[in-house]
Amino acid sequence: LSILIVHGPNLNLLGRREPGVYGQQTLADINDRLTQAANQLEAELTFFQSNSEGALIDAIQAALDRHHGLVINPGAYTHTSVAIRDAIAAVAIPTVEVHLSNIHRRESFRHHSYIAPVAIGQICGFGSESYLLGLQALVSYLQTQAA
Ligand code: DQA
Repeated sequence: LSILIVHGPNLNLLGRREPGVYGQQTLADINDRLTQAANQLEAELTFFQSNSEGALIDAIQAALDRHHGLVINPGAYTHTSVAIRDAIAAVAIPTVEVHLSNIHRRESFRHHSYIAPVAIGQICGFGSESYLLGLQALVSYLQTQAA
């Protein structure tokens, strides 16, 4: 299985960015852990991070016919981007939305996700573990689909 991992805006600063909210791990740390987990799951990962909405949309579109699944942390675009939601709907690649923080117990503007209705599901609140749980959930979803 080929899985695309997409990190949205400001996630390049993980480790330095509000560590009380987002933890001490850097994006490279998270990607390393995902790679280790993927080896066990026999999945192959491709990583992409951008601060720009258009670049994220281009990456999602480019996943068409190349990746079986998508794990995405859209960052603040979660709460604003109809365009990213439409890109996910357009490619129709099974998608899991992940967040480090529990967006539902934070400011009210973070409670709504434009992405959730086009995702299989959402995992939030487990810090960097959210990504690992998201990857596991996506792989088992894809395996069930294939069976
Ligand atoms: C986030 C939550 C968003 O509300 C925020 O804008 C982020 C990170 C998270 O992973 O907890 O940039 O997606």
